[in-house]
Amino acid sequence: MKLLEKKAIEVLNKNWKNGFSIPCANLYPFQWFWDSGLIAVGFAHFDMDKAEKEIETLLDAQWENGFIPHIVFRSETDSYFPGADFHRSDLHPQSSKKYKTTGMTQPPVTGFVLKELYKISQNKVKTLSYIETVIDKVYLNHEYFFNNRDPKNEGLVYIYHNWESGTDNSPIWDDVWDTMNPPEYTFERRDTTHVDASQRPSKREYDHYLHIIEIAKKHNYDDKKIAELSPFLIQDPLFNAVLIKSNRSLIELYTLIGNNKDKIKQLHDWQEKSIKSFNNKLFDEEIGTYVHYDLRNEKLLKYVSSSSFSPLFAGIPTKERAMSMVKIMIDKFGGSHQYMCASFDPDSERFNPKKYWRGPVWVNLNWMLYRGLNEYGYSDLSERIKKDTIEIIEKNGFYEYFDSRKEMHKNGKAGYGGNNFSWSAALLIDLIH
Ligand code: DGY
Repeated sequence: MKLLEKKAIEVLNKNWKNGFSIPCANLYPFQWFWDSGLIAVGFAHFDMDKAEKEIETLLDAQWENGFIPHIVFRSETDSYFPGADFHRSDLHPQSSKKYKTTGMTQPPVTGFVLKELYKISQNKVKTLSYIETVIDKVYLNHEYFFNNRDPKNEGLVYIYHNWESGTDNSPIWDDVWDTMNPPEYTFERRDTTHVDASQRPSKREYDHYLHIIEIAKKHNYDDKKIAELSPFLIQDPLFNAVLIKSNRSLIELYTLIGNNKDKIKQLHDWQEKSIKSFNNKLFDEEIGTYVHYDLRNEKLLKYVSSSSFSPLFAGIPTKERAMSMVKIMIDKFGGSHQYMCASFDPDSERFNPKKYWRGPVWVNLNWMLYRGLNEYGYSDLSERIKKDTIEIIEKNGFYEYFDSRKEMHKNGKAGYGGNNFSWSAALLIDLIH
């Protein structure tokens, strides 16, 4: 285990670029929102200065309206598509004046990450005074979400692009693609020069991705216009669970800091409303777990994915619902021939255990499920997830994602996407501590 941890530290130090981390070399050469947050959790175990800097530099790219972009383009490299010149964040009047960024966001992990830093810290007084210097920016980010991404005032925020979900090419989005017919764009993919195309989204999927951005750009990334016009408008259980988890962490941290009564009250109000709507709207009784809601087409998207279980991480389900979720997790995802937890329903015909978010196992979701199951007292299952995560990394290396079929792991070539991937290393460190 010591050797694995040493290797993980090496991966993180190598991907550290003097103030921030790249998710991995070549494929993702900039700073990504939720990657940075999760990477900071790993650094916190052996280099708190880097953990703090990672969050600080991410927040330095925050827009004036509180929005945090999903990519901060920190260098000029053209090895990534679509780059800064395609995204054109400058179209939005309140975008960062310091950095070129995208005009979309990602699951808002920053709040709970600050809490993790505090928990891990050996010098809590020092860490809390660091947190005091950044926490208002995170609060502002939550305020942005509730004021701009919740058109029906439900306490549930929407995402307008699959790249905002973090689960970029989940089969769930196929239902949205069926409602669209974007032009065939001409462009040069870069991801497939770094990674085998069979592990990445298709050209036609990219046409959809680009088309949604074109619509947003045409309206200068105006949230109201996006809510009105984007063909992709989803209330995502993972995204909202992360927001709720982060909200709770902000309440705890502001309480430790003291003197923030108004903010704590506001956070409690958001929290109450969010959890209520989440349980009323996103739980599918028939399936027995949480699913996505398509706000554009006003319907539930009835598919089971690893995101379906993420509410455990945020303490959202009742004990009864948690029990039903665990049953599904074991029945569908937990067979002895499988590594847990595939990112999409292995019984579905849309399942593909090699392709990005259409089936493989991801370390970040496993980490959240491990934590969530522990909180609900399912320690056998959480230990299984931890053991599986360590084993797939030991067998294959610190890959971005892994085949969920055990038989594929015999020759150590069942790790896919980017190698020496930062959050796989960071969360491995956290899991074994
Ligand atoms: C990609 O390029 O696939 C990224 O994950 C988008 O965020």
